Order: sequence, then structure tokens, then C-alpha cells
Amino acid sequence: MNNSELIKAALDARRFSYSPYSGFAVGAALLCKDGSLYTGCNIENSAFSPTNCAERTAFFKAVSEGKKEFEKIAVVGGNAGSEPSNYCSPCGVCRQVMKEFCKADFEIIIAINENDYKMMTLAEILPASFDKREV
Ligand code: THU
Repeated sequence: MNNSELIKAALDARRFSYSPYSGFAVGAALLCKDGSLYTGCNIENSAFSPTNCAERTAFFKAVSEGKKEFEKIAVVGGNAGSEPSNYCSPCGVCRQVMKEFCKADFEIIIAINENDYKMMTLAEILPASFDKREV
């Protein structure tokens, strides 16, 4: 699956965002090394802290179905009701979840649309990260 297709899947997933409190809709599409795809959206809660980001929704769906090897993820976000107009960079919590399951070369595609995106590796986006396996 190429980058444009992955971004398209993230944009499609974003349509399911449940974000009545922030009004900020996020979508993610996670490609596994075996070629399978898991998508996610942000799911908010009136108590706020139970909110789950789009990236973690995708990761947790995949891990809960036995997937543990990941190649790349595309992330899109912006005000609900309109197309994204800026880059939506993964939050710190989601970066740490990526760190749990991915190697340094895992690719994060931070996209506005299929034609406008930037790519970062996990090592770039989460430098000097915590990992007890490295102690
Ligand atoms: N959000 C994500 O889904 N992913 C991120 O990496 C950043 C933030 C969501 C959480 C919340 O529902 C909304 O965006 C506004 O913060």
C-alpha cells in the first residue's frame, strides 16, 4: 500500500471521529508488516480523560487482533466538518504507544491530504525515549 492510499484510508476513518467536545476530528491508518490495515479515529468522552486518540485506536485494534509488526501510520486531523488544512502531529502518549510496538525506523506520515504530507521516523519524532528493554 503506497503513502497516498494510506492517507486516503486515514481520511476515510476520520469521518467516524466522535469529537463533540473539541470539534477536532482525527483519523489514522496503520499498515502492518503483513499488509493488513487498521484504521482509527479519535473517540472523546464527556469526562475528557477517557478520550482515545485516532492513532491509539488504530494500534489497539491491531494489537487486539494479534498484530505486533508495523510498517507505517498515516495521521490526518483538523476541525470537524471541513477538510484538514494543517499537519496533525501525534501527541506524546501516542508516540509512546508507537514506541512500545515499533522500531526506530517506523514511519509516521503526517498529512493534510494525499498530495501534501511529511514523513518522520519514530526515532525522529520521539528522541531519547523511554524503553526499559534498552536498560
Ligand atoms: N487527538 C488525536 O486523535 N490524535 C493526536 O495525536 C492528537 C489529538 C485528538 C484527541 C482529541 O479528541 C482531539 O484530538 C483534540 O485534542
